[in-house]
Amino acid sequence: MNTSDPSVTYANYLRLDELLALQQPRSDGPEHDELLFIVIHQVYELWFKELLHELDRVAALLAIDEPHRAQHTLKRILTILKVLVAQLDILETMTPLEFLSFRSRLEAASGFQSDQFRQIEFLLGAKSAASIARFAVGGRARVALERRYRESTLWDAFLHYLAREGYPVPAANLTRDVTTPITPSPQIQDILVDAYRTDAKTQGICERLVDLDEGFAEWRYRHVRMVERTIGVKSGTGGSPGAAYLRTTLGQNLFPDLWEIRSRL
Ligand code: HEM
Repeated sequence: MNTSDPSVTYANYLRLDELLALQQPRSDGPEHDELLFIVIHQVYELWFKELLHELDRVAALLAIDEPHRAQHTLKRILTILKVLVAQLDILETMTPLEFLSFRSRLEAASGFQSDQFRQIEFLLGAKSAASIARFAVGGRARVALERRYRESTLWDAFLHYLAREGYPVPAANLTRDVTTPITPSPQIQDILVDAYRTDAKTQGICERLVDLDEGFAEWRYRHVRMVERTIGVKSGTGGSPGAAYLRTTLGQNLFPDLWEIRSRL
């Protein structure tokens, strides 16, 4: 920012007038807790935007063989993830009755419809064509998701990096259909065991990827616990069975090979 330019101020640089006008409660009154609910979701979406920005950066740094800078960026991502998990504590100060005071005004709106959350999942390899169908054809969200669906994942960027480092990554892994799930591969596991024993730089990246996997799982777990304490077993505003559905998303490793090798080390 050019501080000598008097036309640039804190408020106009950050577009504060627009930003502070974006919280629009729908309940009558409005109900006190609805502002917290809106602010927290908006803050999440901003962090999701930043996470996508940083995850794209990690893939780009691996593609140009900059493992140290990729690790540095991964550390930033993990720090953001910790903030995302910690933020749920704030929402948990809202009691079930406080949430019910405005819940009906959400109608069918739900975190289900967060395209940025799905984009993060896609980038991390958890792709689902079905979740794209929920977004209006031609809209910003749909276009972004369709692009992410076709693009290679962070795991693919890592496999290509390993191959360039001289590891014997099978061609089938390097040319796999990137819209399909990441499945465990015995050959990749052999490579990873070797890297853990002999190559501290690659091991470092692997450990940060495990942190990322764990951090994402932690958010899912804390979110479902929050849902259970706030709405019990009621169905979600997005039309799913609620906590029962969310529990089905737990326990799925993003990078299965990195977990498979643990018992061999
Ligand atoms: C009182 C607070 C909250 C409740 C009761 C709640 C409830 C739910 C429920 C029941 C679902 C399942 C889909 C549905 O049928 O609607 C869901 C999904 C989701 N929620 Fe929340 N949620 C809350 C807060 C949040 C916050 C703060 C975020 C942050 C962005 C969030 C993000 C998501 C996402 C991304 C999904 C989709 C998860 C997936 O499909 O794996 N939720 N939520």
